[in-house]
Amino acid sequence: MVIASQAGQPTADPSPSPQPGGSFDPSSPALWWRGAAIYEIYPRSFSDADGDGTGDLAGVRQRLRYLSDLGVDAVWFTPWYPSPMADGGYDVSDYRAIDPSYGTLGQAEELIAAAAELGIRTIVDVVPNHVSDQHPWFQAALHAPAGSAERQRFWFRPGRGVDGDEPPNGWISEFGGRAWTRTRNPDGSPGEWYLHLFAPGQPDLNWGHSEVRLEHEEVLRFWFDRGVAGIRIDSAALLVKDPDLPEVGDRPEPGEHPYIDRDELQEIYRSWRVVANSYDDRALIGELWLSDPDRFIRYLRPDVLNSAFNFDFLVCPWDAGRLRAAIEETIAVHGRVGAPATWVLSNHDVTRPVTRYGRADTSFAFGDKRYGIPTDLDIGRRRARAAALLTMALPGCVYIYQGEELGLPEVEDLPPDRLQDPMHFRSSGVDPGRDGCRVPLPWSGEEPPYGFSPRASADLWLPQPKDWADLTVELQERDPSSTLSLYRSALQLRREHPSLGDGDMGWLSTAPDVLGITRGGDFACVVNFGLEPVTLPPHDQVLLASDEMLKGGRLPADTAAWIRLPAGP
Ligand code: NOJ
Repeated sequence: MVIASQAGQPTADPSPSPQPGGSFDPSSPALWWRGAAIYEIYPRSFSDADGDGTGDLAGVRQRLRYLSDLGVDAVWFTPWYPSPMADGGYDVSDYRAIDPSYGTLGQAEELIAAAAELGIRTIVDVVPNHVSDQHPWFQAALHAPAGSAERQRFWFRPGRGVDGDEPPNGWISEFGGRAWTRTRNPDGSPGEWYLHLFAPGQPDLNWGHSEVRLEHEEVLRFWFDRGVAGIRIDSAALLVKDPDLPEVGDRPEPGEHPYIDRDELQEIYRSWRVVANSYDDRALIGELWLSDPDRFIRYLRPDVLNSAFNFDFLVCPWDAGRLRAAIEETIAVHGRVGAPATWVLSNHDVTRPVTRYGRADTSFAFGDKRYGIPTDLDIGRRRARAAALLTMALPGCVYIYQGEELGLPEVEDLPPDRLQDPMHFRSSGVDPGRDGCRVPLPWSGEEPPYGFSPRASADLWLPQPKDWADLTVELQERDPSSTLSLYRSALQLRREHPSLGDGDMGWLSTAPDVLGITRGGDFACVVNFGLEPVTLPPHDQVLLASDEMLKGGRLPADTAAWIRLPAGP
């Protein structure tokens, strides 16, 4: 939605205050990860070519043109490897193959090459904290006796109590419930326990074991050899455990938690860096949920990882002050090590922004997810569109989760018997889980499966709502005011504008409920978080706005505009 030139009236003083950024050469392809727009594909729900109701690689292949028209630089596939799907693929049983429901290794190789031809790089997910309980290593461990070499790759321990029927410690799974499951001996008697920080189908690996380290370095090489440009590292701060497995304690000091953010991780990722550096322009991207900025930034030193998701920004409420503080902190912290920032509004784990931003509490926390929280989707959608323009204007990399560009809401009324997410089940059904943001995409047509699957009668792995006809790609492509059109215009401008992507930013001085960021002296993004319309700062042109501007070029509530600033004196 490119809006024609409008004259602005002076109310705010454009006083850019440049922030230090990392020095880099934007023309160098080796630094693509510093400013890329990366699109997250959840393969199960992107597009189904074979009609079985589950997305697949052939489906992605058919939609590559869509991704290239959208204007993304890279795609990140959540795990596409063989998996019993105890956690949507984050329980990998073989890193050197593709889950048969998605396709074949040959198809993955062809897809990586076909995407590259369209200028789109591929990022794959590696899940080093755990494997599937069907992984050959874990199966071998289960069938080997206590104390065997096979069990050393995991965390097997005898239980406490007289009969060993108490778990080895009181650690709690990230999905709720105890983090230990007891095994059975071949004669049927109760055996040792094994650790799983997530679901029981995801046994934790022992990163003190040299084979675990070597295997993962081989997995990186396996995928780099097939042309992938980056690795997204799942649960990157959890791999290393204190071998004594002590209780967590009240408030462990940073770095002293028995399994979060242990110092030994730095060395592990340094060795991954060496592998990545033996290829050209490959990126390592950490999923690091760490609130301490000093600890977080250690992972982004030049010899460790390249970048990490910015969850502080994602969890922020729709509030000018809170978002400004998060942005300032992000830029300052990343500047310390010369790493690029990333900006993320959503992913396959969190409530979709359209739903989140329409609630009374617009922040996100896993522990707060509940059924029946009222939301105003119209307000949510306005804010999500404005937030999109903000994220795409900020310096660094931006992530877009599939369906975000369509303005999809969270599906909050999935039939209980269709739910799959272990987070839901391990909360005894109190937490609705993450299925609501993983519903298959609507591509075309008036009713489910909305072109997701070629068979009208296909039974999708998660059912789509009956009221998504207005949200299909087909419809939104024809509507210049749609969320899809907004994302396309923004991504195109972001690519063309020399100041966007990586680099520095400054702030405009604005009213407290308005944010104004500048890029490169001639570009600004202004977001109105207040209840009343505001006048834009002096500008030559409104390049793009997240919703219709008001008469006289005033910016309505919950709206963002990209403007061209007048040339300086
Ligand atoms: C983070 C992933 O994003 C999430 O989907 C998964 O459940 C956990 N890690 C465990 O692998």
